[in-house]
Amino acid sequence: MAFLTEYHCHILPGIDDGADSVETSLQMVEMMRNQGVQRICATPHFYAHRENSVADYLEKRQAAFEKIQGQTAVQDIHLGAEVAIEHGISELEGIEKLAIEGTRIILLELPYRPYEKWMSEEIYNIAAEFKLKVMLAHVHRYLPYYSREELETILRCNAVYQINNEAFASWKEKKIARKVMAEHTHFAFGSDAHNTSSRKPNWNLLLKKVKRDALDTSNGMFEKYGI
Ligand SMILES: [Fe+2]
Repeated sequence: MAFLTEYHCHILPGIDDGADSVETSLQMVEMMRNQGVQRICATPHFYAHRENSVADYLEKRQAAFEKIQGQTAVQDIHLGAEVAIEHGISELEGIEKLAIEGTRIILLELPYRPYEKWMSEEIYNIAAEFKLKVMLAHVHRYLPYYSREELETILRCNAVYQINNEAFASWKEKKIARKVMAEHTHFAFGSDAHNTSSRKPNWNLLLKKVKRDALDTSNGMFEKYGI
């Protein structure tokens, strides 16, 4: 079975709109394991305007993780965050601590609204200031908000482009995913799973759609930007 690294998922219980209980959380990880996932980056949502501080969030995240620690079907779990890009996010104290453990990768999520230049500036500043590698979450999802040119701008920002497995189930999103894979050397897959039903681990779908070398590229991002 193919070795898979999950770069984007909401498995930690009770911290965001992902797993609502320890039971769901453990089931999600078991589903991942059965689909070939052997390494998981757990990336609960981080919205700066909703949190008191990065330190507070990290405490909550650790507490959520401890509820499942040692019981999960996959033990190789690295804590991270899906950080929503907001005005001034690059200047938030401790932002660099939201990078995925064991790596210099920070998963950033663009806002679901028309593209504006400040978004690229925040991405650039986070990377430059903290020597982090930005991973842009589900880059295929922004077509309703961005023009083709704006999407091109985002795809020139020297990030790792994260592709959700479900992109391959949509004709339009698949086109973007394929383009990213053809034109960039830095991409990574994730299920963005939130539960065991409507947004469940869906690696089986990906495995039907991409070749081994694409999976290797995705897995390799972890070591490439590992510390
Ligand atoms: Fe997500």
